[in-house]
Amino acid sequence: MKVFERIVDLKNELFQLRKQGKTIGLVPTMGALHDGHASLIRRSVQENDATVVSVFLNPTQFNDKNDLERYPRTLEADCKLAETCGADYVFAPSVSEIYPTPDTRHFEFPPQSTVMEGAKRPGHFNGVCQVVSRLFYITRPNRAYFGEKDFQQLAIIRLMTKRYHPSVEIVACPIVREESGLAMSSRNVLLSDSQRKVASHIYAVLAEGRQFVPNTPVAELKECTIAAIEQKPELKVEYFEIVDGNTLQNIEKWDDASYVVGCITVYCGKVRLIDNI
Ligand code: PAF
Repeated sequence: MKVFERIVDLKNELFQLRKQGKTIGLVPTMGALHDGHASLIRRSVQENDATVVSVFLNPTQFNDKNDLERYPRTLEADCKLAETCGADYVFAPSVSEIYPTPDTRHFEFPPQSTVMEGAKRPGHFNGVCQVVSRLFYITRPNRAYFGEKDFQQLAIIRLMTKRYHPSVEIVACPIVREESGLAMSSRNVLLSDSQRKVASHIYAVLAEGRQFVPNTPVAELKECTIAAIEQKPELKVEYFEIVDGNTLQNIEKWDDASYVVGCITVYCGKVRLIDNI
């Protein structure tokens, strides 16, 4: 496996592959790789001739400086995991390599981009689209792999790709969970052992709640879910929305949409965890 820091080196390498008719899979990450990322990398390795894993902590998608500073950085371990999973390249550029000048492009995909994470983290999806679009221009992948844990991000990336990079196929991969049910996330390493245990309560409640669909009204299930999660004093729900999985707008009745998703964000101490069902 080769590690590149410079765009020009990666581009030269991929140019040669494309000339030979080889397909390229891209797995964009911000590092601190875990088994969830491993599943994306393995899937890309299966489906493409070459796999590029990008490791770039993208500053433009953080609206909270402390969050960016706290984010775990583990490049050496990331390279090892990428290699074990069969990746061909890790692309680990500096901020100035990706943004030699500020990215002034503005991405908005209402109504999907304005609710939930879009409302709570202004500018976040704009930053995500900026970096993913740049990575697509650099690597020109046939396929790009994203986890369903970030359900809204996946929806926005699909919209951005359809408009600006229509030749890239977006591949959505299922959420990988720890044995306890906690959705795998780079942020989980920020949890203490006891917080990690408590955080598994989030998915336990979501999974239990699903059994009450469609016999409990949407609003009641929402209220009960939040109350059940907050029974643990360490957990504070930022939002729990039950949405149409395509428009991401709240539903009022179960038959308002044929594809319904419950999206949640919970603070466990200072750590912000997201999940969906
Ligand atoms: O999901 C992530 O890790 C990031 O938002 C992404 C897609 C790699 C863009 O920085």
